Amino acid sequence: MDILLWHKLLSPYEMAVAELMLKFNNLKREYQQQGRYCPIEQVIGRVKSISSILDKMERKEVGFDELEERIEDIAGLRIICQFVEDIEKVSALIRERKDLDVIEVKDYIRNHKDSGYRSYHLVARYTVETIDGPKAVLVEIQIRTMAMDFWATTEHSLQYKYKGRIPEKVSSRLSAAADAIIQLDREMSSVRDEIMDAQLSSKMRYNLVEDIVATIENMYRLTSRREVEKIQDEFYRIYRLDDMEELIRYHDQLDLIAQAYRAQSNRLGQGVKKIEE
Ligand code: GTP
Ligand code: MG
Repeated sequence: MDILLWHKLLSPYEMAVAELMLKFNNLKREYQQQGRYCPIEQVIGRVKSISSILDKMERKEVGFDELEERIEDIAGLRIICQFVEDIEKVSALIRERKDLDVIEVKDYIRNHKDSGYRSYHLVARYTVETIDGPKAVLVEIQIRTMAMDFWATTEHSLQYKYKGRIPEKVSSRLSAAADAIIQLDREMSSVRDEIMDAQLSSKMRYNLVEDIVATIENMYRLTSRREVEKIQDEFYRIYRLDDMEELIRYHDQLDLIAQAYRAQSNRLGQGVKKIEE
């Protein structure tokens, strides 16, 4: 058998994980910038360790020649959502993408595992550009809620502790916890609209303040310090009112004032130019 150069083999998987993490985080940022609710809460990625790959190859009787086709989770991504409803949205986002070709779906939410494990799994083909040309690799994407993730992480630690043979007493507890998780996700879904509203309005407030501060800073270049101080004091006064509508009104009003200053400064600028000519 040829020598298997592990690090050469794993390199495209590392690229795939790094690229996809960046892409999903950028999606998240885009949603936030537009003040839209983002179905992605957190993105986690990892490349399977060599020892885990070897263990799995043995467990599944996979030969080295079929390793890349049969071990589907060498590159693994986990997308954590706040609500069960977000999982379908994320799954749809992934299916629509041109850079990911979904080849397998496992819905452990509708059909949870006997252990109580719940998650939505996709296996997709993703192509990276290496120095030897394009290389398509498989990526496993697990999509789950924060609550499902909490359960899976804990259960995984226990599996590890008991080397896969969790005692009945512990596993029945885990099973009860899994039921509680289902209930928790349901409860969270029932207040979803309110939570989403609260998050959006906090994001909106954040965007407004960023915008207002940038406008005031720009004005500083166009008008006297005293004028800007007055404007800034007014902003602090409005901010303390803690009234979103007032803040929006102030933001729009400030925009008009800034426009006027800009127009005035342009006219003055042109005037100066004329005199120079
Ligand atoms: P694996 O050999 O575990 O990959 O099983 P599989 O190839 O049949 O794939 P499956 O979709 O069942 O599992 C893929 C991954 O999901 C695993 O590697 C785990 O990360 C996770 N997973 C599956 N079942 C469980 C479970 O019962 N508990 C926990 N904590 N994670 C699980
Ligand atoms: Mg698997």
